[in-house]
Amino acid sequence: MKIALVGATGNVAGRALETLVHAGAQAVALVRHPEKLPESLRSRVQVEQGALEDGAFVARATRGADALLWLTPTTFGAQDFRAYTLDLARNAVRAIQENTLQRVVFVSSHGADRPGLGHVSFAGEVEKLLEAAAPHTVSLRSAGFMENLFASVETVKDGRLFTLLPPDKKYPLVATRDVGDVAARWLLDSTWTGHHHRGVHGPEDLSANELADILGRVLGRPVRCQQVPSEAIRDAFLKRGMSPSVAEAYAQMFRGFGQQDYRPTEPRTGETTTPTTFESFARESLAPRIRATSSRPGP
Ligand SMILES: NC(=O)c1ccc[n+]([C@@H]2O[C@H](COP(=O)([O-])OP(=O)(O)OC[C@H]3O[C@@H](n4cnc5c(N)ncnc54)[C@H](OP(=O)(O)O)[C@@H]3O)[C@@H](O)[C@H]2O)c1
Repeated sequence: MKIALVGATGNVAGRALETLVHAGAQAVALVRHPEKLPESLRSRVQVEQGALEDGAFVARATRGADALLWLTPTTFGAQDFRAYTLDLARNAVRAIQENTLQRVVFVSSHGADRPGLGHVSFAGEVEKLLEAAAPHTVSLRSAGFMENLFASVETVKDGRLFTLLPPDKKYPLVATRDVGDVAARWLLDSTWTGHHHRGVHGPEDLSANELADILGRVLGRPVRCQQVPSEAIRDAFLKRGMSPSVAEAYAQMFRGFGQQDYRPTEPRTGETTTPTTFESFARESLAPRIRATSSRPGP
């Protein structure tokens, strides 16, 4: 079975690629920078170098594949984030149609079924495009990634965890390696049929206050959670170098997720619950970065 993956030098698809290779699958990695692939994997996968903006490349690189892992790469610079997302997805559609690709696993997000949530709602549009193109699809409606906390190492080192969401409201939170493992399981299984939406929820829902408590325990000193007012969100994102379109999409997502009545549509079940705890992630991945970084104030 031949499986093509985009974003294979990133978090989710990188883990999926590793899992697929160890399972003995024939993998094709569509990457812009092959040198970023771990050396241990590079010689064991078919590497296709190119960008997802190039539809002919995506179609050529996925020729002969039985399954495709698709995601919209993280971008800060898109002038029109929705158009960027859908243009890339149309390149996936072209590849699916030209190569009669049977199975697509898409890294989506909880909330993808709702309007007005910025890039999360764009992911919902991608789901529909893929479902219209391929006979068998699964959209992994993932929780927020624990790796998002990497953006906060400097402030956490100073004892503060800034949050854009209500500090007491619990949300599912998942390690990207667990999302990659779930994706790999779907990619390796050639028996399922039809279109599916699946939650990927991490081991438990946690509030930002609880994250701060866990971080304090792991670091051995207090970490205080502080909510950033929603009006400040867009400006803070622009200062970080996001285009106005991307900044607005993220701001919309946080405003929507921050509503008291917001809940992911997919209920937590044994199947959506994944193993990596925030405490183990904090100990193994976050704390070493926090210790290695220099302190700097501000959100
Ligand atoms: N963050 C969250 O909480 C969250 C929650 C749910 C769902 N998601 C979804 O997860 C996805 C991101 O997954 P991730 O964290 O694994 O991504 P990531 O780590 O940012 O990886 C993205 C990959 O895409 C590659 N890439 C970027 N632009 C490209 C282009 N134009 N052409 C080809 N390759 C390109 C990057 O490599 P190079 O730059 O080296 O090319 C990188 O390997 C997003 O679609 C997001 O909506 C995120």
